[in-house]
Amino acid sequence: MRVLGIETTCDETAAAIVEVTRSGEAKILSNEVLSQIAAHAAFGGVVPEIAARAHVEAIDRIVGSAFERAGLKPADIDAVAAAAGPGLVGGVMVGLTTGKAIALVTGKPFIAINHLEAHALTARLTDDLAFPYLLLLVSGGHTQLLAVRGVGDYLKLGGTIDDAVGEAFDKIAKMLGLAYPGGPSVEREAEKGDPERFDFPRPMSGRPNPDFSLSGLKTAVRLVAERIAPLSDRDVADLCASFQAAVVDVMVDRTRAGLRACRAAGITPSALVVAGGVAANQPIRRGLTRLATEAGLPMVAPPVALCGDNGAMIAWAGLERLRLGLIDDMSAVARPRWPLDELRPQDLVPQDLAPRDAKAGE
Ligand code: KG4
Ligand code: ZN
Repeated sequence: MRVLGIETTCDETAAAIVEVTRSGEAKILSNEVLSQIAAHAAFGGVVPEIAARAHVEAIDRIVGSAFERAGLKPADIDAVAAAAGPGLVGGVMVGLTTGKAIALVTGKPFIAINHLEAHALTARLTDDLAFPYLLLLVSGGHTQLLAVRGVGDYLKLGGTIDDAVGEAFDKIAKMLGLAYPGGPSVEREAEKGDPERFDFPRPMSGRPNPDFSLSGLKTAVRLVAERIAPLSDRDVADLCASFQAAVVDVMVDRTRAGLRACRAAGITPSALVVAGGVAANQPIRRGLTRLATEAGLPMVAPPVALCGDNGAMIAWAGLERLRLGLIDDMSAVARPRWPLDELRPQDLVPQDLAPRDAKAGE
């Protein structure tokens, strides 16, 4: 069984083909990712109009190379999956329309994928993980703790009440004049700095409800930076290291609360999983590994290449849905907002059994 996956929700134009062999082994046959970093760098963040145009220009070529690299033709796949949201609507429409067009021309089923579900299920592609598991989903737009109980079945345990953690990294980087995207820049600077020079707050620490707040931490960094300006290279490195140390503590403390909430809900997780762009951060991975060991759970983090947005995660989520008969049709629309815990119950009804008006994606 092979599925083409297309991802265009933010600033990566990506396409991939993933296969599950007869013996049940998952294989990534191709995974093409074109990052638009250069196009947005001058603006210090993603400009939606530039992103949408760049997706239009690149998508045919990227899908073409996904087939070429896999050594396959469109007729060789069993379904087409495309991210239908959440994300920047102009970009989402490019991938969604391309996916539908390929499905129409080849006569293959079409599957509209929730981008967050694709991040959430990546651990099953890489580590063949069993449900349920506890997921810390950390990206540029999302910071959530979820109990992943099954495909389409997510219990949100907590989330951020203000900034997403990736957003906090990006804003700190911008404030300190570091390159976009901020996460990798801050992590690099932090390696050279002293994590104990500044004692930044650890918001929400110790609270039983597994929610996050990051804007106060961001403000604390800004106030110190303004107080000690002009900043030397050492100051920048120390600010990054101290900020990142606070973020690691917050992620570990909040995930510990998430684990308790998960168990209190009667769910016994098989593992602790981290996913999303911020999951590439090594100190965060190390902190969560310590927590998992303390909790007696395996820790699963996708390889760095599968943490950021990519087509393989979309193709894999498509495969998971295809196996359950959860396919969509041409009425699937782009959804700029699409919370994971609101994947409608109708989505879990295989389409040939579903009532006419219960299709996904309106
Ligand atoms: O999942 P993703 O690629 O896109 C979204 O769906 O948002 O996540 C992108 C976010 C950005 O905020 C970026 O700064 C952050 O992930 N990020 C990192 C690292 N690599 C990427 N944050 C911290 N450390 C990193 N190494
Ligand atoms: Zn993402």
